[in-house]
Amino acid sequence: MSDRAGPVAAAFREWTGRDPEGVWAAPGRVNLIGEHTDYNDGFVLPAAIDRLVLVAAGRRDGGRLRLWSRQAGPPADLELAAVGPGRVEGWAAYPAGVAWALGQAGVELGGADLVVDGDVPAGSGLSSSAALECATATALADLHGAGLDRPALAALARRAENEVVGVPSGAMDQMVSMLGRAGHALFLDTRSLATEQVPLPLEAAGLCLVVLDTRAGHRLVDGAYADRRAACEAAAATLGVAALRDATLAQVEQHRTALGEPGLRRARHVVTENARVLEAVALLRAGELDRLGPLLAASHASLRDDYEVSSPELDTAVAAAVEAGAVGARMTGAGFGGSAIALVPAELASQVGDRAREAFAAAGFGPPEITPVVPSDGARRLA
Ligand code: GLA
Repeated sequence: MSDRAGPVAAAFREWTGRDPEGVWAAPGRVNLIGEHTDYNDGFVLPAAIDRLVLVAAGRRDGGRLRLWSRQAGPPADLELAAVGPGRVEGWAAYPAGVAWALGQAGVELGGADLVVDGDVPAGSGLSSSAALECATATALADLHGAGLDRPALAALARRAENEVVGVPSGAMDQMVSMLGRAGHALFLDTRSLATEQVPLPLEAAGLCLVVLDTRAGHRLVDGAYADRRAACEAAAATLGVAALRDATLAQVEQHRTALGEPGLRRARHVVTENARVLEAVALLRAGELDRLGPLLAASHASLRDDYEVSSPELDTAVAAAVEAGAVGARMTGAGFGGSAIALVPAELASQVGDRAREAFAAAGFGPPEITPVVPSDGARRLA
């Protein structure tokens, strides 16, 4: 058994009195660029990271789903037939939602015991929820021989998030948690769901990717996220396009009066952010990682000023990273708190951390958590 799988398998034995049939894992993610574009049929460029949610699992008869977590909250014992939208509270909604989505896809579950463990911090903008959903989906699909491929499992995991947890998120997080590849970013077209693994040879470029977790959780994330999504749909309707993916900057400018405020700025963010993703992918394909800085800076400014999803802590983290010599930095994920990422020359990584801690202390914020992350593989069986 791999070292990572040992503790969760031991917890499974302690809580269920038997051995698990296996241990599965799925990673959290950072998004390099392409924020709030995935519910506008747009482009994203995330990478899976070396932070995992692990699920030890075993089948059981009797139609019940029993859930334990080493971190997330109290155990749950649910009747599978009674699980569905609006019917499960708390952390159990994520794994139970996946079980429900598998059932909707025609997979007969019968019953299962799941024990969850992991080191993707919750509420940090690193997609701990998608990691939990994808680890659960991989475990249950494998145990039941569901024969579903990874994009299908990602779609089920997203359905759990949208319909059972109730967050109207896009396709990015579950797709990269399923399809991530070590040393690569995932270029995803969220309309066609076409993907391309784009090499991200950080070490060869002398760079590292640093997460600056502000420890100021996603405040108001649900309401504000749904609000941004609705604003984008309204702007698309005003412009007469199926989704903001189809709009140009010229169109947005031309219809500024009809779009109004803040519709104009919301639409402008999405249109310019999509263009920045395409530019970033072109730079990565050309092996020019060190030229990503201006795109990261423009993305952050657009999220701060036009989309209004940054926070004083995120702005401070980004400014500190750049002052300390980062190639570029920006908030990552939904925003409203959570984490920033910085692309940093390896020899400056500790200075970035020091500068950010100083800046947070000077601003009266609690200390940020600074950790390097490594682009890693997506969901997999560990034992
Ligand atoms: C959250 C959602 C994603 C995406 C990002 C913002 O992480 O789950 O689908 O919309 O916010 O880019």
